[in-house]
This record gives sequence, C-alpha cells and structure tokens, in this order.
Amino acid sequence: MPQGSAEVLEEWKCLKEEYQKLQETHKLYLQKLDEVTKLQNNCSSSISHQRKRQKDMSHLVKKCRKGSSEEDVKMLDEIKEKMMTQQNVFSEMEAFLPKKNGLYLSLVLGNVNVTLLTKQAKFAYKDEYEKFKLYLTVIMLLCSFTCYFFLNYRFLDAILNFLLVWYYCTLTIRESILITNGSRIKGWWVFHHYISAFLSGVMLTWPDGKLYKIFRNQFLSYCLYQSFVQCLQCYYQSGCLYRLRALGERHNLDLTVEGFQSWMWKGLTFLLPFLFFGHFWQLFNALTLFRMAQLPDFKEWQVMMCGSTFLVLFLGNFFTTVAVVRQKLKTRNQKPKSL
Ligand code: COA
Repeated sequence: MPQGSAEVLEEWKCLKEEYQKLQETHKLYLQKLDEVTKLQNNCSSSISHQRKRQKDMSHLVKKCRKGSSEEDVKMLDEIKEKMMTQQNVFSEMEAFLPKKNGLYLSLVLGNVNVTLLTKQAKFAYKDEYEKFKLYLTVIMLLCSFTCYFFLNYRFLDAILNFLLVWYYCTLTIRESILITNGSRIKGWWVFHHYISAFLSGVMLTWPDGKLYKIFRNQFLSYCLYQSFVQCLQCYYQSGCLYRLRALGERHNLDLTVEGFQSWMWKGLTFLLPFLFFGHFWQLFNALTLFRMAQLPDFKEWQVMMCGSTFLVLFLGNFFTTVAVVRQKLKTRNQKPKSL
C-alpha cells in the first residue's frame, strides 16, 4: 500500500472513532433531554395537584376555624401561613418550568415554549432586550434628526413612522416573553407600546396636506426628544440589571440591597424630570392637535385620532410613573435602616 493511502486510512480510523464518540454523546444527550422533559411534566403536574389540594385544605381550615378553641385556631393559622409560603415557592418553581403561552404569544408565535430555564438565560434575554431598545432608539434619533434638520420629504417621514410601528410591535412580543419569564413590567408599559404602534400607524397614513405640515416639526422634535429620553432610560434600566446581577441578589422576582437601592434612587432622581417633561410634551401635542381640529379647513380624521392617542399616552404615562415612584418611596420608607 502506498504511504499516502496508509496515512489516509489511519486518519479515517481516527475520524471514525471520534464520530462514534460523538454519536454516543448525542445519544446520552437525547436520553437526558427525555429525562428532563419527564421531570418537567412531573413537576408541573405535582404543582397543579398540590395547588388543588391546598385549595380544598383552605376551605377545610375555614370551616374548622368556626367554633374551635384558641389553641386550635392558632394551629390552623400556622397551617394557613405555611400554605401561603408554599404558594410563593410554587410560583418560583414555575418560573423554571415550561408553561403555556398567553393569548398574544399564542397568536404571534404559536405554541412554542418561550420559558428560559436558567437565571443566566433570563438575564441574558433581558440584557439583549435593553440593548435592542438602545440600538433602535439611536437609529430613530438619527432618522428624526435628519428628517427635522435636513430632508423634508413625506416618504422619509413615512419610513421613520414605519420603523416606529415595527419597533413598538417587536417590543410587545419581547415584553410578553419577558413577562412569561418572571419580569414585573407593569401592564401599562406593554399597553403603552401597543398604543404607540397605533399612533405611528396613524401618522403613517396622514396625507401630506396643510395640516400635516403644521404638525410635522412638532412631531419630529417630539420624536427626537423621546429617543433621547429613551436612551437615558435604557442606561438606567441596564444599570439596574447589571447591579442586580453583580449582587447576585435577584432571587427570581424580588430585590433589595442598600447599594443597589441608593444607585437606583440617584438614577431615578436624574431621570424623572426628563420623563415628566416628555409626558407634558405629549399633553402639549394633544392640545395642539385638538386646536388644529377646530380650524375651518379641518378634514383629516388623523388629527383627532392622534390628538386623543397623545392624551391617552400622557394620562397613562404620567399616572403610572407617579404610582411607580410612590410605590418605591413607600418601600423605601418601610426600610429606613437599609439606606
Ligand atoms: N418599559 C419597559 N419595561 C419597564 C418600563 C418601561 N417603561 N418601566 C419599568 N420596566 C420594567 C423594569 O425593567 C423591571 O423589569 P424586571 O422585573 O424584568 O427587572 C420592571 O418593569 C419593574 O420595574 P420598576 O421597579 O417598577 O421600575 P424601574 O425602576 O425599572 O423604572 C421608571 C422606573 C419610572 C424609570 C420606568 O418605569 C420608566 O422609565 N417609566 C417612564 C416611561 C415613559 O414615560 N416613557 C415615555 C417617555 S416620553
């Protein structure tokens, strides 16, 4: 046999061994995957079974409480408290188990599993979401800057509005995935993105008439300002996320560490004036549009529609932000020693 062929044969033997090893490893992987799936199903059904039994138990406790001695009442209260603690543990367990998608995700993605099964994966997804928001916001800031200062064409405004529609729609999907994975995003912020997608859609259909030209510059400067504020907001949210991760404090849902809290308050105090100014700009946009609707040559439905949408955005954003800050102040005052 020539030397070249012997070398090939030797190499082939080596390759074949590696291939066999790979096959075995993959087989083991499939086996483990199967085991994991079985364990997941097992845990999920045990949790629902436990929940059902605890519900029956609560009824029983309630019934027994009437006419029981003081000692028995104490014992029953203890059982009730323990059951409450267990309920929280069930929720924590569920955060790491596959679950059925809600209506919106089922409609958009179908019944694909979106539960991320490790803490690292959850963090990484949230981190990527913040980065996505930041990059898109910078692109939109550049686009609105160009449209405002250099290029006054309706079709370029339409591209900007289309980008906004796409951006907000994408955010609604990503946020639904985040919520499935235990994020505490308030319902309003998700709803806010649906409304913003609608608003940009209406702006997209507004014909290039006299009224559009009157509102154009105000709208573009508002977009510029909003993108700027969103950059600050992204910086704040990513800062919170990184600090939580560094502290290793994030036990799935709850957080409180003094260092983190003081950073959060500093960030929030800096951010809030910009946020409130943006909210009042939304109110100003609504009022401008309502005034435009009074003009004698008013005929486009987009004027009233955008005006009402800006008003809804102002009300929702303003009151939710005030509620968030009040809630944070309340929790801070409850733990004065931790600051
Ligand atoms: N969009 C998306 N997610 C948001 C959000 C928003 N506007 N506000 C809060 N969240 C998320 C947080 O990231 C956090 O998620 P996590 O559980 O996955 O970590 C969760 O909701 C709970 O956040 P919370 O502690 O209530 O607030 P926060 O400290 O993260 O942020 C504000 C507080 C006030 C800075 C924030 O709500 C905000 O920016 N609001 C204003 C938005 C706005 O008005 N935009 C228009 C500007 S013109």
